[in-house]
Amino acid sequence: MTDSMTIPQRVLALRSIFAGNHAYRTLEERFGYLLERRRTEIDAGIVAEARSIALIGNSGGGKTTAARHLITSHPGLVLHDPVSSRMDVASLPVPTPATLKFVGQTTLAALGFQLQRDRTAQTIWDMVKDHLQARRTLFLHYDEAQDLAAHQTPKELTSVVNTLKSLMQHPVWPVGLILTGTIELKTIINHDAQLARRVYPVEFPQLDLAFDADRVQRLLHLYADRALLTVAEEVGTPEFAARLIHAGAREFGLLIELVIAALEEAMMGNADALRIQHFTAMFRKRAGCIDGLNPFVAEDFERIESRRLLDQEGDT
Ligand SMILES: Nc1ncnc2c1ncn2[C@@H]1O[C@H](COP(=O)(O)OP(=O)(O)OP(=O)(O)O)[C@@H](O)[C@H]1O
Ligand SMILES: [Mg+2]
Repeated sequence: MTDSMTIPQRVLALRSIFAGNHAYRTLEERFGYLLERRRTEIDAGIVAEARSIALIGNSGGGKTTAARHLITSHPGLVLHDPVSSRMDVASLPVPTPATLKFVGQTTLAALGFQLQRDRTAQTIWDMVKDHLQARRTLFLHYDEAQDLAAHQTPKELTSVVNTLKSLMQHPVWPVGLILTGTIELKTIINHDAQLARRVYPVEFPQLDLAFDADRVQRLLHLYADRALLTVAEEVGTPEFAARLIHAGAREFGLLIELVIAALEEAMMGNADALRIQHFTAMFRKRAGCIDGLNPFVAEDFERIESRRLLDQEGDT
């Protein structure tokens, strides 16, 4: 980042930072291991059942961002290759309504194939499997995977689960799944013991007001440095870190969004240091609330329902 950049350019640069954390490292390690295992089996001409990963956390934790970063930055993955049409990982959000047929159709589209005619769910999923093999896809990522169970009868849920299992157990080209979603995703996985046994869960935990204070301070410095601002002493306290964690509903992604918004506020005010007032003003604008409900002002900030305030704005 340089002084000559406009504020929107500087904010964009901040948004492009990916901040790692413990859950992300676990995800990366597990994915790296499963990928290596699958490639070794392919090289040896062995077909073995694929294994899967479920990344579970609250809204705003950073699941979508983590999955996107994993898929786009993991070394050696081919996502677009016009010559061989190889697509090591296909990624898509679960569509609405999440009927078996529509999920199949959307998966086909993500693999680059548009259905021309109406087909049965069975035919569509057979085509999905053929295309996964043709594109040599090793992993299929479904974001918002909890929606696979939304409004489903137990019978429909069983067919969804059976379809997912059949991808992993394909006799010729087994495919691993990466499922990212909220806690309801556990209902799908635990619906079937065979599926549960094949899925490795990675949880995105909520931040802890005291325990994560140091980490939050490091993040603040990292983002402020990139924005060419210093961090005022008043922002460097464990109490401030606790307020910030609480303001972001204790979610890692939401916290980063607030830090960037406060830095934007500081830049707009031409400040050279990031101060509490920037957080106060940013939250006031974002949540449209009085100071008594502002976690950066209120004495007993822990009673404030930050998520509800942020959601009201519909801008989380
Ligand atoms: N590791 C990260 N580094 C930088 N910013 C992040 C990171 N994780 C999340 N964010 C920020 O937090 C925001 C929310 O994250 P994200 O959309 O990934 O959450 P989510 O867990 O998928 O939420 P939802 O369940 O609502 O889909 C993102 O828009 C991004 O700005
Ligand atoms: Mg998401």
